[in-house]
Amino acid sequence: WVVMVTAQTPTNIAVIKYWGKRDETLILPVNDSISVTLDPDHLCTTTTVAVSPAFDSDRMWLNGKEISLSGGRYQNCLREIRSLASDVEDKENGIKIEEKDWEKLHLHIASYNNFPTAAGLASSAAGFACLVFALAKLMNVKEDQSKLSAIARQGSGSACRSLYGGFVKWIMGKDEDGKDSLAVQLADEKHWDDLVIIIAVVSSRQKETSSTTGMRESVETSLLLKHRAKEIVPKRILQMEGAIKNCDFASFAQLTCADSNQFHAVCLDTSPPIFYMNDTSHRIISIVEKWNRSEGTPQVAYTFDAGPNAVMIARNRKAATLLLQRLLFYFPPNSASDLNSYIVGDKSI
Ligand code: DP6
Repeated sequence: WVVMVTAQTPTNIAVIKYWGKRDETLILPVNDSISVTLDPDHLCTTTTVAVSPAFDSDRMWLNGKEISLSGGRYQNCLREIRSLASDVEDKENGIKIEEKDWEKLHLHIASYNNFPTAAGLASSAAGFACLVFALAKLMNVKEDQSKLSAIARQGSGSACRSLYGGFVKWIMGKDEDGKDSLAVQLADEKHWDDLVIIIAVVSSRQKETSSTTGMRESVETSLLLKHRAKEIVPKRILQMEGAIKNCDFASFAQLTCADSNQFHAVCLDTSPPIFYMNDTSHRIISIVEKWNRSEGTPQVAYTFDAGPNAVMIARNRKAATLLLQRLLFYFPPNSASDLNSYIVGDKSI
């Protein structure tokens, strides 16, 4: 027999960034972060997990290619989730798995991303969140989403925020064992549903410096990172929570853009410096900044993760349409520019 569960999890985009760990094994951050979960039609991971007495080892396929599960991150997630497994009964097919059986039974996992992996579009976020969520369903784990978020966190930090829709905060926590480092929902997917997200895919190539390596080097060498984590982010988190609660787009946009720019400044302050944005990214920033200034009030916020792709959040449909028109004017299709496509979607699941 085989028992299978399929789940789908969207990615999330941080508007106050996570950059830097205080514990690399448990994946504990140096500051809180806040993100928006995207709607699952555009950027999501679909994962099927299967268990059968016929399987003789845990195996995983990502986008059809087998990958190794021997890394600490996968092992930590699998171990934690197995420790919470309970009885599963499928009466129709006469299958019963007892709690104690989960330690011996092996899993096969197949995961697909509908977007470029490791190009700064937070694929690991959706990936580990989906893996943990699917396994929790398969193993009848009774724990709440917050507990699951703390497990997904051990796969990839940003993954903990993808367990919820809407606006999500990852609380850094204080405990050494990481138990209080988990995600909470600030507002659900129905809150502030005027927002429209446009992603300009500048490059779908794999990034040169992974987030994990990049943030390690920043923690080791950047003084700006220390200042940011201690003096800047705590205040910004409070301001961002207020902006989200009140649907105050002017503050939301100002904080989002400032935090993205500061994150990239930390990357430049790292030795050797890390460049995630390219000329096209910089041109997009100029276009948005100029437009926002000419309107007198912000129409669009931009943010860039560990890659050159631009994530833009428009205040409403009208602003999103005008933004697309502008981008198409500056980056006409089939021109020499390396902007390949746009993904337009709603904010949340
Ligand atoms: C720039 O979560 O990918 O997207 O915890 O090492 O797996 P690891 O890093 P990851 O880092 C994401 C960094 C970021 C900002 C963010 O999502 O908050």
